[in-house]
Amino acid sequence: MLEKLNAARIEGADLYDWDELVQEDRVHRVIYTDPAIFTAEMTNIFGAVWVYLGHESQIPANDDYITVRLGLRPLILLRDSQGKIRALFNRCAHRGTTLCRKDKGSARIFTCPYHGWSYLNTGKLRAVPWPDGYACDFNEAKYNVAQVPRVDSYRGFIFATLNPDAPSLIDYLGAITKPIDEWLDRQPKGRIRVCEANRLKYKGNWKLAYDNSGDGYHVVFSHRSLLEMENRQADVANKGMSYYKGSPDTAPMYIAYMGNGHHFKDKRPNIQKRAGGLWAVEGPAPGSEHYADALRRRFGAKAEEILDLASSEPVNINVFPNFSLLGNHIQVFEPISVDETNVTWYGTAVVDEDNALGGAVDEINALRMRTQEQFPNFGEVDDLANFEEIQRGLACQEDEWIYMHRGLGIPGRVKTDENGIITAPATDEVFMREYIKEWKQLMQAAPRIVIQREP
Ligand code: FES
Ligand SMILES: [Fe+2]
Repeated sequence: MLEKLNAARIEGADLYDWDELVQEDRVHRVIYTDPAIFTAEMTNIFGAVWVYLGHESQIPANDDYITVRLGLRPLILLRDSQGKIRALFNRCAHRGTTLCRKDKGSARIFTCPYHGWSYLNTGKLRAVPWPDGYACDFNEAKYNVAQVPRVDSYRGFIFATLNPDAPSLIDYLGAITKPIDEWLDRQPKGRIRVCEANRLKYKGNWKLAYDNSGDGYHVVFSHRSLLEMENRQADVANKGMSYYKGSPDTAPMYIAYMGNGHHFKDKRPNIQKRAGGLWAVEGPAPGSEHYADALRRRFGAKAEEILDLASSEPVNINVFPNFSLLGNHIQVFEPISVDETNVTWYGTAVVDEDNALGGAVDEINALRMRTQEQFPNFGEVDDLANFEEIQRGLACQEDEWIYMHRGLGIPGRVKTDENGIITAPATDEVFMREYIKEWKQLMQAAPRIVIQREP
């Protein structure tokens, strides 16, 4: 049973002259500072497009659940007792309290802590205490928990949308599925398992993180201490992200805009294509030498291939509006308010059911976890500091514009292929110009927003 809502009541489309706020070379500060724009985004962006919720390995068995959010809407993402993946609103149908208060678990039934109404994990009302006190018919659908009408997965990554008119998930992802496939297919059987996470928070608008997710311009300046640290630990030069030093725009890496707000920073062409090529640039961290040496003694030449699985894949695959694959992480952006955002970095582990790694899967995952700790601890903090400082700067009301025109207007620099994929040198801001055009279109639209309840 679908319930139609009138999204136009949010009046997102009428708030501003969006063409004034988003121009070819610059955007206005209010798109990061106005709470009314943020409220409209929760419908026009986080309600209207496919938004990443979680990974299937986080709910591996029937009855497993995690609690997540779709914009500001709290959800229970679960696999019901029949195995169907659903996204229930984490909101009791009685008086609206949060139904499930845990991060994760396994439950066939959710019982509301307030007055004890209980629901099956299909969202259907199961029982209410002392029903004699009611004259209504509890079989009516309106007493079942609301849920997101469209939930779908792409190779284990679960997305959802409230918009019945949105394209299919596969069409929405479009060309960005190619780097996602390549990211997965370097793992045995093309599979990963999601681990625990580094959870960070910054006082700034969520788009500041997306503006930065394909940014190759800031790396040597903002992450100078990380680059120095990675290279101090090595006895050979050019570890870690050193390829950003010198002349990054003539390096083989590039930025690609792939439609629907998605973009892809591909740094793989900088790495030598040989077994051990990726491990060779991974900045060695204290303690990793012991593992690497033990694997080399055990596996000989094959050790280099295995070590590459512990190394960070040099890509930033950004799916609008809230999902990135970078290194071996899944990064999720979660808006909290106009100037507050959660950034969660989930680690991923190799799954090796067929023993392709000769029993080394635990060692590889231990090593992989160490390499995964590096960037969130020593790099992401630089980025979050920038986002907070930008939000501070944007408090200057009279100084209105943010520029994003690097690479614009230089003949031959930005190229569009026959499929509409736009590529440019690594430091260009083309990805920001293009995704924000998509954002503008979505903000100008009046999407249909729908919820569903079990009949
Ligand atoms: S609010 Fe859940 S039972 Fe009353
Ligand atoms: Fe950064």
